[in-house]
Amino acid sequence: MGAGAIIVAAGSGERLGYGLPKALVRVAGRPLVAWSAQAFAGARGVDTMVVVAPPGDEKGIAAALGESLGVHAIVPGGSSRQRSVAAGIAALPDSVDVILVHDAARPLITSAMVEAVLAGLDSHDGAIAAAPVADTLKRAAADGVIGETVDRAGLWGAQTPQAFRAQVIREVFADADDTELDAATDCAGMAERRGIAVRLVDTGRPNIKVTVPADLALVEALLGGTRIA
Ligand code: C5P
Repeated sequence: MGAGAIIVAAGSGERLGYGLPKALVRVAGRPLVAWSAQAFAGARGVDTMVVVAPPGDEKGIAAALGESLGVHAIVPGGSSRQRSVAAGIAALPDSVDVILVHDAARPLITSAMVEAVLAGLDSHDGAIAAAPVADTLKRAAADGVIGETVDRAGLWGAQTPQAFRAQVIREVFADADDTELDAATDCAGMAERRGIAVRLVDTGRPNIKVTVPADLALVEALLGGTRIA
């Protein structure tokens, strides 16, 4: 009984331009993936952790994590994010009754935020970290000028962690075909499509996904002065 966490870290990080996997880029003194792993290791209710590594970089990821965080397994990822999640699900013990999925690229996650998302499962089969959209949204026309303004009322940005009752998310993945595993960008989307109600949990603080070099400078500044709660 308890929650199993999957940290997906198998992205190439090409857009960062460091020539090494994004998860291994050092931020505020430690590899990116280690920040998330520490937050999950310290979260109440999380019993086990699986890290999904770029194929061939499992040893590098293991070295980045060290032994103190109690990672259950490090497994090679797939050709898409959701295929990497599937590899993580397969590596978790059958005994977990909740599965959390988190992007290694979001190092600002804290143990308290993980616990808040888990609490969302008290009332729903799924719950995700998210934030109401603050910017005014524009849909671009084909030539790169504004085509229209999209009403932002009720719109949220989906983040991670995303938590689900284990049986529910295992069934979702068992039902998914190759096209969906290649194209889906998060687990909640796959669950919603099957009529599963997924709760939005407002993170209330920055939880950005490191994508381009400027993101690294931002999280470096935030982590440099922040302790993980
Ligand atoms: O590429 P994207 O920004 O969607 O990646 C989100 C997360 O998914 C990152 O932490 C990345 O390492 C992971 N990922 C993965 N396997 C892939 C692609 C992305 O584990 N094939």
